[in-house]
Amino acid sequence: MTLTAIKKPSIMTSASQDLQLTDEGRLKHFLTIEGLKKERLTEILDTAETFIGVNSKSTKKVPLLRGKTVANLFFENSTRTRTTFELAAKRLSADVLNINVNVSAVTKGETLLDTLRNLQAMQCDMFVVRHSASGAAHFIATHVEPHVSVINAGDGQHSHPTQAMLDMFAIRRNKGDFAQLKIVIVGDILHSRVARSQIHALNILGAGEVAAVGPKTLLPEHVRDLGVTLHHDFDHALKDADVIIGLRLQKERMRTALLSTEDEYYRSYGLTEKRLKLARPDAIVMHPGPTNRGVEIEASVADGPQSIILEQVTGGIATRMAIMSIAMGNVEKSMNAIPAGTPETNFATAATAEIQSDEA
Ligand code: CP
Repeated sequence: MTLTAIKKPSIMTSASQDLQLTDEGRLKHFLTIEGLKKERLTEILDTAETFIGVNSKSTKKVPLLRGKTVANLFFENSTRTRTTFELAAKRLSADVLNINVNVSAVTKGETLLDTLRNLQAMQCDMFVVRHSASGAAHFIATHVEPHVSVINAGDGQHSHPTQAMLDMFAIRRNKGDFAQLKIVIVGDILHSRVARSQIHALNILGAGEVAAVGPKTLLPEHVRDLGVTLHHDFDHALKDADVIIGLRLQKERMRTALLSTEDEYYRSYGLTEKRLKLARPDAIVMHPGPTNRGVEIEASVADGPQSIILEQVTGGIATRMAIMSIAMGNVEKSMNAIPAGTPETNFATAATAEIQSDEA
């Protein structure tokens, strides 16, 4: 797929909303957080909470996606997202296909659409897609059959909605009410699909203050339009911070020299032990990964008592289980044309019932 084959993020937003929701306003694809109602995000967080129980049992399975086939289509590298999606699908009892794009027929010139058509011919029910082009997941969702759900696992600089939801899950578990919190996001905001999705989620969930921090080259003025305060002085921004989220410098997306040196960046924007003392004493440290120690974060902070970086990864499985089960459930409901007004399936309740019956 080429960049010209897909729409730009700004044009995509409302179209993605129409595409990702059923007529009843429920998620059938998960393409973007922007524009979603708070109840949709809360539903994901509450459902993920029930799956934490599944993941801590010796038999980590529930049958919510039994008989379904999930295809992981990663056109960009990934460690956390791809593996936690695979684990999430398996723990929901789905069959999982991991398409290694580098050894697939894509390398022989097969188009993305032909790859999709072939996977649909194998009766795949869900595509989890990562692609370097913004809008790739949206593009795929416009071309799939009605029984297929598409989950965006990161598209270019646009959106990484499941990462943002697992981050919200980690924040809520550690800090409770979003309204009471000051959240500081530091680093390469310009290129970060994670930051964009986090900012949308935090605003929808009613966070007290969201501060974006970085050098002017990586934090342009228009980021203010997303609903954040802008800061170029990290030390100043850290005052009263409850949550500090570091971001990776995305050098692969920098087309011109936007940084002087990594040493200079670390001096101004590295999260060091000394700097962390400027935040609230109980502040938590987060990072979506991969981390660059000594560039964005001091190793002792990444591994320190205030870091919840690995807890984010663990919660990512439960959060992705929640998103997959909710989306697939809504696709099934819309396929079966259940009349409006029918009491909704509560996946949280369903999952809990499964866990209890397993334990009995
Ligand atoms: N956070 C994140 O997306 O990491 P991966 O690139 O390893 O999936």
